[in-house]
Amino acid sequence: MPPWGGVAGKRVLITGATRGIGLAAAIELARRGAQPTLVARSEARAADAVSQIQAAAGGATVDVLTADLASQASVRQLAVDAQARYPRIQVLINNAGAIYASRQLSPDGIELTWAVNHLAPFLLTTVLLPRLTASTPARIVTTSSDAHRGAQIPFDDLNAQRTWGGFGFPRYGQTKLANILFTVELARRLAGTGVTANCFHPGFVATGFNRNNGLLMRVGMAISRPFARGASKGAQTLVWLVDSDTAGATTGGYFFDERLVTPSAAAQDREAASRLWRVSEAQVQA
Ligand SMILES: NC(=O)c1ccc[n+]([C@@H]2O[C@H](COP(=O)([O-])OP(=O)(O)OC[C@H]3O[C@@H](n4cnc5c(N)ncnc54)[C@H](OP(=O)(O)O)[C@@H]3O)[C@@H](O)[C@H]2O)c1
Repeated sequence: MPPWGGVAGKRVLITGATRGIGLAAAIELARRGAQPTLVARSEARAADAVSQIQAAAGGATVDVLTADLASQASVRQLAVDAQARYPRIQVLINNAGAIYASRQLSPDGIELTWAVNHLAPFLLTTVLLPRLTASTPARIVTTSSDAHRGAQIPFDDLNAQRTWGGFGFPRYGQTKLANILFTVELARRLAGTGVTANCFHPGFVATGFNRNNGLLMRVGMAISRPFARGASKGAQTLVWLVDSDTAGATTGGYFFDERLVTPSAAAQDREAASRLWRVSEAQVQA
């Protein structure tokens, strides 16, 4: 296996790069010579992000693929488009995420937080795996959160019909736990292939997160903003996981501030990780 040698010249597919942590990461990765492809649901916001990246990283070539990650058909089409356009994909960043204060369903009838935060990364990654394993060395990084602490996967209520509450925060924590369990099982399955899978907590970051949940949540976010770190700081560990040679030594890890940290006991449950994989496969059955 050739050494990693940094992200320069590598194709990086990144979701959720129209704002916040993903945009800051895309800017820094472009500065370091990566070839970013932004996955965006809005062409206008993608065009704006491309302008910001090009202004910050002069001369960067930035591609865009359009997809609404809430829809499994759209995620499948995204994977088809990506494979048609890129013979090699060395980095996949599953960063897009959201919280919903009220319970909503995706076009596939899946509770929306679960659909966007967990099933979209699961489906996109598993469909792209042949291309990633053919592009080794390769890396998969997923944006999780310390909000996973205290959560359990509700295997007997996956669609949160009975267990919804708390303005969507408990559900959000479940999806971020799912990000870690997914990473653990993915890393196990990819052992020896030259593809690593890691996830991270960006810290509490001042972004557009939660802006979709009405005035109260927006006010809450504005009040807590002085305590949050900036988007570039929030993206630092993501950039490090993608770019540094050091990070390539670990797979299946949960990181914070460029350090491997121990997630909750629920996130270390290997039986839950393999069970989550099986139920997720069933949920994305075409
Ligand atoms: N901010 C924090 O304090 C914090 C802490 C821990 C973890 N995180 C995690 O960090 C990640 C990034 O969040 P952020 O704070 O940067 O929030 P953000 O500013 O709201 O950015 C979220 C990104 O996800 C995209 N997205 C959301 N739903 C989508 C969909 N259905 N299809 C396609 N793209 C979609 C958004 O696209 P649009 O521009 O189209 O909306 C946007 O680019 C998330 O996974 C979040 O859980 C954030």
